[in-house]
Amino acid sequence: MRCIGVMTSGGDAPGMNACIRAVVRTAAYHGVRVLGIRRGFQGLIEGEIVELRPRDVGGIIQRGGTILQTARSKEFMTEEGQRKALRRLNQHGIEGLVVIGGDGSMRGALALHQRGFPVVGVPASIDNDIWGTNMSIGVDTALNTIIDAIDRLRDTASSIGRAFLVETMGRDCGYLALIAGVIGGAEMVLIPERETRLEEVARAVMDAYERGKTHALIVIAEGAPYRTTEVAKFLESHPIGFDVRITILGHIQRGGSPTAFDRLLATRMGVKAVEALLGGERGVMTALQGRDIVTIPLEEVVQRRREANLAYYDMVLMLAR
Ligand code: F6P
Repeated sequence: MRCIGVMTSGGDAPGMNACIRAVVRTAAYHGVRVLGIRRGFQGLIEGEIVELRPRDVGGIIQRGGTILQTARSKEFMTEEGQRKALRRLNQHGIEGLVVIGGDGSMRGALALHQRGFPVVGVPASIDNDIWGTNMSIGVDTALNTIIDAIDRLRDTASSIGRAFLVETMGRDCGYLALIAGVIGGAEMVLIPERETRLEEVARAVMDAYERGKTHALIVIAEGAPYRTTEVAKFLESHPIGFDVRITILGHIQRGGSPTAFDRLLATRMGVKAVEALLGGERGVMTALQGRDIVTIPLEEVVQRRREANLAYYDMVLMLAR
């Protein structure tokens, strides 16, 4: 292989830049040229392609977001869009592609693979919903951002005696809320994977009040069965002891400088993706399993869902004494 492409696609995640850097420099080490595709699959269709040399990726390992920008492409989901994308790849002499992104992007990568194009995926999404890898790039940074916010909210909550409802991202995956609940000292977490009645939430907050706690914290995943405002309304109509406030963390969770963990994960996965492509592997995704970065078939990745570890749910309740 003499030339490979690299793109970031879907929701951006901290660490994507560190991964781009690793891809470009690993390829250069092996004498392979790298073309950067801007704005994911949409940019590929539209031919937004730029040369990336080792010096072009200097000073980005610590930067959040993605220098290649990203997009969610509806057009690429069509047969016509995928044909246009293949045409662009061939026009530019790109012989293999590294796709850095979330579960939708892994589906896109698989579509190209099924059309005969050599592709390797790299999981990057703060949601940690991608099957087959212990962690995706960006999750650790998002968790650190969430926990920093929770620490600040606890300062004000306990000073004035309030219950805070903190909403995290994660689409239909409760991972961020679950882990933030454990390490943020929540009374309870509400996640899509576990049914919880609003009466139980009120009871948990009341218990915290009766035990003499100065505040209460409930972490709610954006995909939970109840909207955060609905939970607040319910609590406000019950004698829970605390005033209620809501904080929706939103896109703050997606930005910021990647943590040491994410920089290392992104770097290792970027190196592995290029080595896999050059070594003849096709249609696979890099994954963290145990201490190792391995490759697993994209077909398996898109067919399955990463399951929530509900032991964390019970841990939250046990530790909220
Ligand atoms: O997949 C990452 C994510 O941040 C989800 O947690 C969230 O549901 C979604 O993207 C938000 O998408 P957008 O940035 O398009 O509003």
